[in-house]
Amino acid sequence: TQKIIIDTDPGQDDAVGILLALASPELEVLGITAVAGNVPLDLTASNALKVCELAGRSDVPVRAGCDRPLARDLVTAEHVHGKTGLDGADLPDPVTPLADGHAVDWIIETIRAEPEGSVTLCPLGPLTNIATALTRAPDIAPRIARIVLMGGAYFEVGNITPAAEFNIYVDPEAAQTVFRSGVPLTVLPLDVTHKVLTTQARNAAFRRAGRVGEVVAGWTGFFERFDKEKYGSEGAPLHDPSVIAWLLRPDLFSGREINVEIEVDSPLTRGMTVADWWGVTDRAPNALFIGDVDADGFFSLLTERIARLK
Ligand code: BDR
Ligand code: CA
Repeated sequence: TQKIIIDTDPGQDDAVGILLALASPELEVLGITAVAGNVPLDLTASNALKVCELAGRSDVPVRAGCDRPLARDLVTAEHVHGKTGLDGADLPDPVTPLADGHAVDWIIETIRAEPEGSVTLCPLGPLTNIATALTRAPDIAPRIARIVLMGGAYFEVGNITPAAEFNIYVDPEAAQTVFRSGVPLTVLPLDVTHKVLTTQARNAAFRRAGRVGEVVAGWTGFFERFDKEKYGSEGAPLHDPSVIAWLLRPDLFSGREINVEIEVDSPLTRGMTVADWWGVTDRAPNALFIGDVDADGFFSLLTERIARLK
């Protein structure tokens, strides 16, 4: 099994990503760390607890991390995810408390304690917690197996500004730290996630997958509205589950090892992932940037795994 830490701002698509990980025996989720993003930190933390309880996995520790970006005011996305971040299905308030300690301290301690190269970080939100850990404890960088993150865009450009994707835009300084850390990176950008769209048939398959599948369909039913109205998409892009799907089935994806830099200065393009897809610079590659996905393969994997959560 592969040991992972999920750093997240749930968010319906984060929640589905967490469920996919918890349902997959190939992965051992050491813990979940919450960050401010789609909604403020108190909500992302309690949403993460709710999702673990939904999966019957209150044994997985959830810790709260940074409540705001490194150098900016927090920008949230209630216009996409609703007021709670998990609109679309009513889940009971969590009974499990948050685990003790700050998420960033726990990430550092865990990477130092686990064997070198054995832990993969899976950030599904702004990169504030991860960057803070790397800055505070530079010794952890060579011990991290890989960082597999959802963020950025190349051909699809932006979803929160014309130039930037939400997770990178919210904390570009944090993203820059991560992209310059030297840790092997896999990036699942909008170019991929806008290809894994829910449809009526795919939502119906979730519903047939049982109790947890019904909740997932409730979330995607809500989450779809934004993309249908905004982009005329058929359904909702399942951004964050693509991180977990890549870990489970990298054969469903294809991409290139390229250089990616983060724009932090320009007010117009702040948070842009400047991705050298065509290799026009001599900057060294720092990321496996994914460009394509087998969407049907992705949805069969996801539905099959959700059905395992009884
Ligand atoms: C990303 O932003 C959030 O709204 C989603 O949860 C996803 O992580 C997509 O741009
Ligand atoms: Ca997210």
